[in-house]
Amino acid sequence: MAFPQNFIMELKSRANLVDLISSVTELKRAGSNLVGRCPFHNERTGSFTVFNSSDPSAAHYYCFGCGEGGDAITFVMKTENLDYPAAVEALANRVGMKVPEERRFGEKKLDRARLYELNAAAARFFHETLIGEKGKIGLDYLMNKRGLSMGVIRHFGLGFAPQSWNELTDAMKKKGFTEDELVSVFLAGRKGERVFDMFRGRVMFPIIDLSGHIIAFGGRVMDNSTPKYLNSSDTAVFKKRMNLYALNFAKSTTRDALIFCEGYMDVIALHRAGFTNAVATLGTAITPEQARLVRRYVKKVYLCYDSDDAGQRATAKAIELLEAADVQVRVITVKGAKDPDEFITKFGADAFEKLLADADGHIEYAFRKLARDFNLDVPEERLRFARAACEMLCGNFSALEREVYLSRLAELTKIDLAVLRNQLSSILKGRERAVKKREQTQVLQKLSGYGDRVNPDRQKYPAAAIIEEQILGILFLHPEFLADAQVAGVLSAETFLCAVHSRAFAAMKDVYAQSDLLDIALLSAVLSPEEVSLIMGAKLLREKLTDNSKAVLLDLVGRLGELKDKETAPSGDLAADIEKIRQRKLKKERQ
Ligand code: UTP
Ligand code: MN
Repeated sequence: MAFPQNFIMELKSRANLVDLISSVTELKRAGSNLVGRCPFHNERTGSFTVFNSSDPSAAHYYCFGCGEGGDAITFVMKTENLDYPAAVEALANRVGMKVPEERRFGEKKLDRARLYELNAAAARFFHETLIGEKGKIGLDYLMNKRGLSMGVIRHFGLGFAPQSWNELTDAMKKKGFTEDELVSVFLAGRKGERVFDMFRGRVMFPIIDLSGHIIAFGGRVMDNSTPKYLNSSDTAVFKKRMNLYALNFAKSTTRDALIFCEGYMDVIALHRAGFTNAVATLGTAITPEQARLVRRYVKKVYLCYDSDDAGQRATAKAIELLEAADVQVRVITVKGAKDPDEFITKFGADAFEKLLADADGHIEYAFRKLARDFNLDVPEERLRFARAACEMLCGNFSALEREVYLSRLAELTKIDLAVLRNQLSSILKGRERAVKKREQTQVLQKLSGYGDRVNPDRQKYPAAAIIEEQILGILFLHPEFLADAQVAGVLSAETFLCAVHSRAFAAMKDVYAQSDLLDIALLSAVLSPEEVSLIMGAKLLREKLTDNSKAVLLDLVGRLGELKDKETAPSGDLAADIEKIRQRKLKKERQ
């Protein structure tokens, strides 16, 4: 089944969980553990804990806010959206370990690698077509209409999909790829029995992930037909909401910020002009995942969306999400052009550099927009404007920036700076309280099972769910009970009322029977990250209590049994029901 156990343990100890997590969120020491803001949900307080251990392979994390928990491998699974074998491989590559042979050719790993290979082969096919006989119109479009040099075309791996229903498909089949594989990565479509090329008569933009794999394509028509751009939809190797075009280049920028724009051509124009920190959200609104992704690389983002209405709406949405992910935002308005591509063509790179240099902090931009709603000649309106402006300043700004904007506000409103400062700090305090309260409510809702997707049975069996978690927690702390005959006599997967607990128990029992060890990584091979998180939460609950003996475990199993009797509806057989109640009473008296 899984990878050899000693390999997994060594991998985990070399991977160093603390380093892994530190690249995503800042951790501070708290006793022997480390705490920080959770990378899996937006929060201001640090509910995320990394449990360090003298044995580095035992390090693990848990978020007391959102209940996400695991080890180095689940962390990579979650943050890089990989399945278990792919996460193990990614980690192994990073720490320079070789994945054991017998596993490398396991089915799942092969699938993924094949899809990357197929995309790479297709990109080569598109590129060779572009520079060959059949690509003339495409090359003419890119070089003459869009002004790209051969160097730029090569750098971005641009290509051309011929106006044909089968040329790509045939070429890839010749290389040994199957129709199913082609369809699964959106390079081909299927109609009845027939398979056809998805991209036809388009210039092609490959999308590359952070490890350098080609994961998807965008293709643009060369006239006014629609759709202007055709993009791969989500596939096994491409999740649109988790990726940004050109982040593979931009991540190594030496600038301290990223530039967000809307499209492929904008990014290419900016990179050409020396702004190699530009990325695109590919026509969709920015997602929370993307916001957290960029936070790994930079603290600041310039938003440079089109000047049309849609672009401005996208700007507002992006500000909200980026600030929630603790990224500072600056808004660039391109004047005299519809998008950054057009702006640079018209006015040149220096002009764009100037836009960046005196980029409106978005606050200045928002100030101006906000001021339009008030008549600043009227004292009362000036006051209302000041209050609204202070509200705005509570967003994501450094103390220094707040000072700068506050004095600007003092000028505008002719209100004393000290008064404004007071106003701001009281709003900030109020917000802090509101945030804390909201986070607490979320935790409470989670505990009461409201909206619990991992354990949908919790609402039906709230009392049993709590007992079952206690049982799983003790078993995780003392896996040897799993092999205990007395425990086995009363506890099996069928004992649990909640399906997820039953699954978790079965997995724990299997893993322990095979490995003589219960480890997060071994469980992750058979359970989902959410299920693993659930077990970890259960363990942490029990760990705080001193008595986790077999007697306690047996008592909990007994209580679960009683609950179960109650949960089962009356059988309709009166005699049997009376007998059941009598037994229950007897049992109580004996205790
Ligand atoms: P735009 O229409 O602004 O295109 O769409 P653009 O980037 O300026 O492209 P050119 O300059 O006309 O070549 C912005 C982005 O929205 C997505 C693409 O990612 C595009 O780059 N889009 C647009 C689509 O996915 N499909 C479409 O039909 C249009
Ligand atoms: Mn454009």
